[in-house]
Amino acid sequence: MPPLDLGVLISGRGSNLQAILDAIAAGRLDARVRLVLSNRPGVEGLARAERAGIPTRVLPHKDFADRDSFDAAAVAALREAGATWVVLAGFMRLLTTTFLDAFPHRVVNIHPSLLPSFPGVDAQQQALDHGVRITGCTVHLVDAGTDTGPILAQAAVPILEGDDHDTLAARILVQEHALLVRALSWIADGRLEVSPPAAPGARARATIAGVDTALGLAQGGRAPELAGEGA
Ligand code: GRF
Repeated sequence: MPPLDLGVLISGRGSNLQAILDAIAAGRLDARVRLVLSNRPGVEGLARAERAGIPTRVLPHKDFADRDSFDAAAVAALREAGATWVVLAGFMRLLTTTFLDAFPHRVVNIHPSLLPSFPGVDAQQQALDHGVRITGCTVHLVDAGTDTGPILAQAAVPILEGDDHDTLAARILVQEHALLVRALSWIADGRLEVSPPAAPGARARATIAGVDTALGLAQGGRAPELAGEGA
């Protein structure tokens, strides 16, 4: 199979983008990042892309009259760059069908909770506030809802005595990096299958042929299954 041609959308730090770039450089992910697109100027993720020699674009969302016109400009930039798959790596905007219809079942998001628990912003704080004992991260395909699309893979992370937002977010982030790279490598291997909803109102399902997509509890931050990967 040819390498995945990725467009990566960011809004900030870009550590998940870095995990993708590192995995590609190390030969662990058969992909090319065609474009890094940010809705915020001057963010760390853009500097990471520039250091890796990846083309970047900034589309400040405030410059657009509405979501559809922002999304149409993003689609045009991604197509022009040759991206055929899109990764949302800390991209803090909802996408409309203008965007999603241009890349059907080809937009992947990483979210720092075990969805469907704690969608939306600050999932780590939501988990702490709720008092759950186990949280984690999810890689899923994006649909028009907030963190509602078909789940590809999940990794579990325990909440430890004394955890605060930052300690928990840091431990989840280690898993995010590994899980995102792993999910993309399954896609690059052609293992992803998306089944349409079985009945009206049911959900589309995503399956990855032949691999275990439920990664176990990462005591202290790193699941045995992921040792030696990511970050
Ligand atoms: C990550 O926790 C990601 O799951 C969430 O936003 C954060 C982005 O981090 N959607 P980074 O920009 O990849 O470092």
